[in-house]
Amino acid sequence: MSWITNFFSSSIGRKVIMSLTGLFLITFLIVHLVGNLQLIAGDQGEAFNQYAYFMTTNPLIKFVSIGLYVMILLHAVLGLVIYLKNKTAKGIKPTARNKADVKWASKNMALLGTLILFFLIVHMGDFWFKMKFTDTIPLVTYDGWEPIKNLYEQVTITFDNPLFVVSYVFSMLVLGFHLWHGFGSGFQTLGLNHSKYNKLIDGIGKLLAVVLPIGYAIIPLYYYFVMR
Ligand code: HEM
Repeated sequence: MSWITNFFSSSIGRKVIMSLTGLFLITFLIVHLVGNLQLIAGDQGEAFNQYAYFMTTNPLIKFVSIGLYVMILLHAVLGLVIYLKNKTAKGIKPTARNKADVKWASKNMALLGTLILFFLIVHMGDFWFKMKFTDTIPLVTYDGWEPIKNLYEQVTITFDNPLFVVSYVFSMLVLGFHLWHGFGSGFQTLGLNHSKYNKLIDGIGKLLAVVLPIGYAIIPLYYYFVMR
């Protein structure tokens, strides 16, 4: 077991875990967005509610979800450790070439990450917690289905409140900045950078950093301005 503790306590080990968990979380963001876009399908939430039922009851998805919570915690805790270590590191001066990058990353990534964590706590409290652990969400019945929770209705209530709409859109801006730097830097840490593919990796990272937050932000904006 000692290699695991050694790995976690080494600076490169922590960065590798940060990169791997970060890349996993980006995959989650893609899948989550595709599922959530059903919220604006114009079918009164039928497809979305049936999808949410599947996602919360399927044993395989439940198992993957536990992995997801572990990844979120690891990413947040190790990010904080790296930030604090960088802050207190004395005598290790970054080279002129990576000085600006190190400064930007250690200062802003930690702040952006903390804001995203705050968003996640509020977000999961509103949807995930209510869905899984309370009976506050009304039931709905579809042809050939037992009554299931109408999560679509909960989303409607949330995005009826302009404060939620503004805070979601702001959080997606924060997420965009976090991804803009995070994707390329994750690949670099893993040593998966090759002069031939660097531009492509950078391009994919920047594309995701723009498309994902816009895709998510469209949902509260659509609810508030079009569906009300
Ligand atoms: C408009 C944007 C979003 C909407 C409408 C939305 C909607 C939802 C809903 C309805 C759930 C509960 C479904 C369930 O319990 O399976 C959920 C869960 C979750 N959301 Fe979001 N979401 C949005 C953006 C985000 C973003 C940007 C993140 C990450 C930064 C995120 C992270 C999560 C996580 C981690 C869960 C728990 C997933 C699980 O238990 O497997 N969501 N979201």
